[in-house]
Amino acid sequence: MTQLTLALAKGRTAKDSIHLLKKANITFPDFHEKSRKLVFYNEDQSIKMIYVKAVDVTTYVEQGAADIGIVGRDNILESEADLYELLDLHIGKCRFVVASLKDIELIQGNPLKVASKYTNVTKKFFARKGIPVETIKLNGSVELAPIINMSDCILDIVETGNTIKENGLTIIDNGEYISTRLVVNKASFATKTEQIQTVIQQLKRALEDSE
Ligand code: PRP
Repeated sequence: MTQLTLALAKGRTAKDSIHLLKKANITFPDFHEKSRKLVFYNEDQSIKMIYVKAVDVTTYVEQGAADIGIVGRDNILESEADLYELLDLHIGKCRFVVASLKDIELIQGNPLKVASKYTNVTKKFFARKGIPVETIKLNGSVELAPIINMSDCILDIVETGNTIKENGLTIIDNGEYISTRLVVNKASFATKTEQIQTVIQQLKRALEDSE
């Protein structure tokens, strides 16, 4: 039996991902969120799940260390990894926004200092608008940057909008819709087609059942 390796993103979408996999009849009996274990197997051992940081999922998949991955489109876009994105899992729904303390106007040609966890996404977003940017890479609590005058604005993901609101920021522009996706290593898709297609069909059925 050929085994598939699945890289699953830790963090805010992990619980929903595990729930969706369960609905798709893919269960990991030993898994619980608080576990310090990093490797889990499904019941018939046909899938080995590695439980990794969300920002690293695309690396494992692109390198072929994992055949498939479950991760947010925010991390997929930021990584610029060479892989297939085959299914929208309709969880972890959020969007990219630009936010600042004041309602600043985004004017073509006017340079901006932008703090973000997503500096690649940021550069592309503002390049499309013809706005030159200096990016400041942060790994979290990005909303702080304009408050302490380190940047003019931020580019970040917004889900409920609570973090933006509680920190007195205003959304000044909207970016792409984001959700959790199934990604696939290109070589694995050629060599393990049947197993990967089976997982995709199982997930599709689970998604249809939850509609
Ligand atoms: C994300 C994001 C925002 C927040 C948005 O951060 O970077 O800060 O969630 O969510 P909301 O619109 O529901 O408030 P995360 O919670 O992952 O933590 P981090 O700041 O440490 O990256």
